[in-house]
Amino acid sequence: MKSPRSRSGSSKDTGPKRIPGKALKSASNPGENDATLDSATSRTARNKTVSLKTARGRTTAQQRWLNRQLNDPYVAAARKQGWRSRAAFKLIEIDDRFKLIEEGTRIIDLGAAPGGWTQVAVKRGAKHVVGLDLLPVDPVAGAEIIEGDFTDPDMPDRLKDMLGGPADLVMSDMAPNTTGHAATDHMRIMGLAEGALDFAFQVLAEGGSFIAKVFQGGSEKDMLALMKTAFSSVKHVKPPASRKESSELYVIATGFRPQRLLEGSENA
Ligand SMILES: C[S@@+](CC[C@H](N)C(=O)[O-])C[C@H]1O[C@@H](n2cnc3c(N)ncnc32)[C@H](O)[C@@H]1O
Repeated sequence: MKSPRSRSGSSKDTGPKRIPGKALKSASNPGENDATLDSATSRTARNKTVSLKTARGRTTAQQRWLNRQLNDPYVAAARKQGWRSRAAFKLIEIDDRFKLIEEGTRIIDLGAAPGGWTQVAVKRGAKHVVGLDLLPVDPVAGAEIIEGDFTDPDMPDRLKDMLGGPADLVMSDMAPNTTGHAATDHMRIMGLAEGALDFAFQVLAEGGSFIAKVFQGGSEKDMLALMKTAFSSVKHVKPPASRKESSELYVIATGFRPQRLLEGSENA
């Protein structure tokens, strides 16, 4: 079995040049090498606060955003440790609980930009990690990054080829641009989650797992029913790093059983 790639953070892979639509292997990993430190930081981050001293001519909206950033210990912890996003801590917390990423796991990261979840997956020893986003993502050592839309019909096969086989874990932290209109935003994010689930059905190995960002609200009932058929366990979690005021949740489905999907469609 191949050893997990590039937990050391060094890279002799491709340089920083990025070609749209082209897969890259890449450089730059967060500093610490011990995953237990990530978890410890995550716990500590929950208790720290800092404050904005002056308004300095900023608009109210700018001030609110800055205050939130300054009072968000996860932002500071992410910056200090070299995670590309505070969202990295959400995956750390999810994985500490569900143990989905192991040495050798093959992972597809949908909506990877700026790369925090991809970094966590590599650091926790995943064998092959492919990250996909509509936006450019700077290289992440030990992962391949592709710029594109997960809804492209050839994307499931393309990513499976890049992984060298079916995925053990499909994770989606995808989010649309928000409109500020709660119902519209909810519908859009659930559309992405449903699309990600369909994508997962096409690329997951038997026994595989699926993580997706969803929103609290009524319309995911059909998706939930389908997941309960296709997976042996389905749970919703709100990781501590997820902002309390956000209605974001993550659905965690484990034990993919494709046969049940086939039986379901035959009986329909
Ligand atoms: C919240 S960010 C992901 C953060 C990431 N997990 C991290 O830790 O850095 C959501 C991403 O989903 C991406 N996204 C939205 N729709 C997408 C689509 N159709 N295909 C690929 N990526 C998409 C957005 O471009 C955005 O970068």
